[in-house]
Amino acid sequence: MLGHAGKILARSRFAIAFTGAGISAESGIPTFRGSNGLWRNYRAEELATPEAFRRNPRLVWDFYRWRMRKILEAKPNPAHYSLAELEKMGVLKAVITQNVDDLHREAGTKNLIELHGNIFRVRCTSCPYRENLKESGRVREFVEAEGLPRCPRCGSILRPDVVWFGEALPREALEEAFRLAEKADMVLVVGTSGVVYPAAYIPHIVKERGGKVIEVNVEKSGITPIADVFLRGKAGEILPKLVELVRGLR
Ligand code: OAD
Ligand code: ZN
Repeated sequence: MLGHAGKILARSRFAIAFTGAGISAESGIPTFRGSNGLWRNYRAEELATPEAFRRNPRLVWDFYRWRMRKILEAKPNPAHYSLAELEKMGVLKAVITQNVDDLHREAGTKNLIELHGNIFRVRCTSCPYRENLKESGRVREFVEAEGLPRCPRCGSILRPDVVWFGEALPREALEEAFRLAEKADMVLVVGTSGVVYPAAYIPHIVKERGGKVIEVNVEKSGITPIADVFLRGKAGEILPKLVELVRGLR
């Protein structure tokens, strides 16, 4: 199974990866679905919505600050580094992620498409103001502050620059992801339940165009029915092995 996947990857001409929360699970970041996706008796689905933010922005900001703190404590794991390595080897052309945790970038991935935004970016709810807190050096100050963060330009409430349930995905990112999927002759799907659309179209587009789908997951997902190879196990254990195989074959 692993050997077959290694061959497909090594022989590919334009490989892409599609990742979800499972790739960051071994970094200690809870996934959305499954047993430990809970926060103070709230489910992410109840807090990550525009309605929740309108009703109780303080609660939503408490939740996002909590997630930011958890993510700040986390480091990329061997799965993130493996994808960065495959890119350096010239095998992988892009990583399309549903994650907002920035760990692919921390691991060194250069061509990264973030379909659901980035938790370290904030934007104003009424003017075009945007800020990347890592770049402005304000992350610490921001996560430790209490109360509602305000726009330095107009004074309105800031919001996380992430996609909430019921919101559209950032257009440029989505178009770029679709373009890449149409070009790809294989996609490596890692740690996603593959049930949230439009993101989950990515592997389907590759498949429909005759490309191969290799999946790495601890359990079956919405993508498994179209997977040419399903590698069951932890991403942090399987991906480094895949890199070694590909290195031997290239
Ligand atoms: P989910 O929480 O739905 O799924 C995580 C997947 O990772 C599951 O299929 C697990 O089996 C798998 N998994 C867990 N640990 C793993 C490991 N160590 N190695 C490999 N696989 C592992 O997360 P996503 O599919 O990313 O959207 O969720 C998609 C979107 O739904 C998220 O981006 C978010 C969420 O609501 C928005 O916030 C818009
Ligand atoms: Zn503003």
